[in-house]
Amino acid sequence: MKMERRIPRPADLAPLMRFKPLELDARKRRLAKAHTIADLRAIAKRRTPKGAFDYTDGAAEEELSLARARRAFREIEFHPAILRDVSTVDTSVEIFGGRSAMPFGIAPTGFTRMMQAEGERAGSSAAGAAGIPFSLSTLGTTSPEGVREANPDGRNWFQLYMQKDRDKSMQLMQRAADAGFDTLLVTVDVPAAGARLRDSYNGFTIPPQLTPTTVLNAIPRPEWWWNFLTTEPLTFASLSEWNGTIGELLDSLFDPTVDFDDLEWIRDQWPGKVAVKGIQTLDDAKAVVDRGVDGIVLSNHGGRQLDRAPIPFRLLPSVAAELKGKTEIVVDTGIMAGADIVAALACGADFTLVGRAYLYGLMAGGREGVDRTIEILSKEIVRTMKLLGVSSVAELNPDHVTQLQRMVPIPRPAAAAPPAASTPTPAKRTAAKPRAKAASKPAEGLVASPNRTKN
Ligand SMILES: Cc1cc2nc3c(=O)[nH]c(=O)nc-3n(C[C@H](O)[C@H](O)[C@H](O)COP(=O)(O)O)c2cc1C
Repeated sequence: MKMERRIPRPADLAPLMRFKPLELDARKRRLAKAHTIADLRAIAKRRTPKGAFDYTDGAAEEELSLARARRAFREIEFHPAILRDVSTVDTSVEIFGGRSAMPFGIAPTGFTRMMQAEGERAGSSAAGAAGIPFSLSTLGTTSPEGVREANPDGRNWFQLYMQKDRDKSMQLMQRAADAGFDTLLVTVDVPAAGARLRDSYNGFTIPPQLTPTTVLNAIPRPEWWWNFLTTEPLTFASLSEWNGTIGELLDSLFDPTVDFDDLEWIRDQWPGKVAVKGIQTLDDAKAVVDRGVDGIVLSNHGGRQLDRAPIPFRLLPSVAAELKGKTEIVVDTGIMAGADIVAALACGADFTLVGRAYLYGLMAGGREGVDRTIEILSKEIVRTMKLLGVSSVAELNPDHVTQLQRMVPIPRPAAAAPPAASTPTPAKRTAAKPRAKAASKPAEGLVASPNRTKN
C-alpha cells in the first residue's frame, strides 16, 4: 500500500528524545540493569573469582537436589481470581513472634565475607532496612555483635550447628542471645559434609589460596581481590582460623551424634523462639513439633548436603495438611523469584528463606546488591499477588496453585507379611518387596494434577 511520507521536522523529534541522566556510579549502573535474580547471578559470576562463585552457586554431587527444587517451583500453574480490588497489597506476615514486611527472610550462610567483603553486614543492614529478618550462620564471618551493630533495630536470627566442641556452640549461641537475636534455627541436616564437587575440582580452600590459576582468574576481577586483601582477614565467629577444604572443615566441626534429646536440651537453653532447619520428611516434622519447637524449616540445605533429597516445596502440602496452625512452617531451597515465594505461601508455608538469591545480589554489588535482591523479589511478590487477585498473604490458599506432575513418587507396595523363617537372606527380602510396576512410572511430560503431589 502506498503511504504518504514527509520529511521529519525537528519539532516532531524533540518530544521523542528522552535521554536518561548518565549514572556515574558504576555499581548503581550495573545493578539497575538487573531485573531478575538470574540477572544478578550473571553479574555475580563475572565479578567473583571462580572458586568463591562456585562455592556459592554449587551444590552436592550431581546437584540434582537443587536443580529439582528449582524446577518444582517452575512446574506449577497459578489460578488467578478476577475483579478483586488489589489497589493495595499487604505482604507482611507474622513469624516467630514478630512482624516481617515481606514473607521472606535471609537464610543463614557460612563464609559470607569470602563471597564479597561486605558480607553479613551488607545482608543484615539491607534486611533491617527492608523490615525482614536476617539469619547469621554459626560459620558466619561476622560476629553476632557485629551483625547487631549493622542491624540494630531489625530482627536477627541465629543459626546453630552443634559442633563437637559443644561449649563453643553454646558460647556462640549465648553471645547471639545477649546481642538480642530473637530466633534460633537449629540446622540438623549435617551429620556429615555434603560432597561439593565443584570445590574439589577447583581445589578451593578456606582461606582462598594464591596459586597460578587463582592469580590468572583474579586479573579480570581486581575489585574482589582488592577488597579481600585490604579488609579484615577471614575469621569466622566460631573458629579463629582454618587451612583446608571446606568439606574437611565441616567434617571436623559437626557433631554426628546429635539426636532428639539434644534438640530438647538446646530448646531449653535459648530464651526466644526455636525452629529446626533441614526437615525432609513428614514424620520428622511431626517428631520435632512433638518435642516442643516453635517452627520447622523444610529444607535440603539448598541441595548442598544429600543429593537426590526430597524437594521441600513438594513436601509442603502434606506437612501443611498435618501441621498448619500447630507450628510455623518455613520453606527454602530453590527460590529464585517472587512467584516461587507466592506459590510456597499458597501451598501452606508461613514464611520462606532465600540463600543464593541474597548471595548473588551481594556478589553483584555488596549492600546495594542485596537491596536489589530484596527489591526484585518484593516487586515480583506484589505483582504476582495482584495478578492472582489477592490483597494479603492470608488470602493465598492451595486453590491458587496446581503443582504439575513430574518426578512424582511411585507408591511403595504394601508391606508383605514377615517371613516365617528366622532372619531372611537378602535374596528373600528382595523377593518379599517387588519393585513397583513399570505402569506407575512418572510421566515424561507435565500433567496437571488437581490434587497436590503426594510425598
Ligand atoms: C553458600 C551457602 C552457604 C550456606 N551455609 C549455611 C550455613 O552455614 N548454615 C545453614 O544452616 N545453612 C547454610 N546454607 C543453606 C541455606 O541456609 C539455605 O538453606 C539454602 O541456601 C536455601 O536454598 P537457596 O540457596 O536455593 O535459596 C548455605 C547455603 C549456601 C548457598
